[in-house]
Amino acid sequence: MDIEAVRSSYSRWAPIYDRTFGAITGSGRRRAVDYMNSRPGSVLEVGVGTGLSLDIYGPDMQVTGIDFSREMLQKAIAKTERLQLDHVRELRQMDARSLDFPDDSFDMVAAMHVLSVVPEPERVMAEIARVCRPGGKVVITNHFAREKGGLAALERVLAPLADRIGWHSDFRIETVLQEDSLALEQRKALPPLGLMTFLVLGKRGSHT
Ligand SMILES: C[S@@+](CC[C@H](N)C(=O)[O-])C[C@H]1O[C@@H](n2cnc3c(N)ncnc32)[C@H](O)[C@@H]1O
Repeated sequence: MDIEAVRSSYSRWAPIYDRTFGAITGSGRRRAVDYMNSRPGSVLEVGVGTGLSLDIYGPDMQVTGIDFSREMLQKAIAKTERLQLDHVRELRQMDARSLDFPDDSFDMVAAMHVLSVVPEPERVMAEIARVCRPGGKVVITNHFAREKGGLAALERVLAPLADRIGWHSDFRIETVLQEDSLALEQRKALPPLGLMTFLVLGKRGSHT
């Protein structure tokens, strides 16, 4: 998927996202935010989308969100204003392949249902690792390709449609586990049917 496909695909998704894909992915978002709420501090949410997670964060969190799609981000901004979400520090249009933040800026970085959407996911993982402080956590929920079974076959059939549907159905978990500075700490299959996976990766370095 290239960045122009992200732009056009998510301008079409934005008006219906919360009632469609957003509605069936709530358990992953809830799991990830519950984990982060147990470690109060700063969070960068990469690909924050329409901001479906933003009202689940606790008041002790300081949340920054970025997204490439102006239409998706506009929904997140409107929601933050409507609900007066004071823990949301900043929402900015940005390409996750080139994050405009210094090294080690955040206690945690979250990427929920994003890594199978972005162009160059390895580059995005390198940027996520760079802006997470040593000892900090990277929290991911995503669908990953299955090795076998009926769903694996369906994923392969849908794969060529990535630019049209807005994500890669056959995205491999190895792509997010290859970053040397991040160590896998938790991996859990999520309902419904284990379609999504929750991951916590720790940034190597001093721990707090
Ligand atoms: C499936 S949505 C997930 C949104 C949100 N995280 C959620 O769980 O509902 C994927 C999001 O990734 C964003 N995205 C895709 N490529 C991006 C990039 N290179 N930089 C920033 N955001 C990107 C899209 O615009 C879209 O809002």
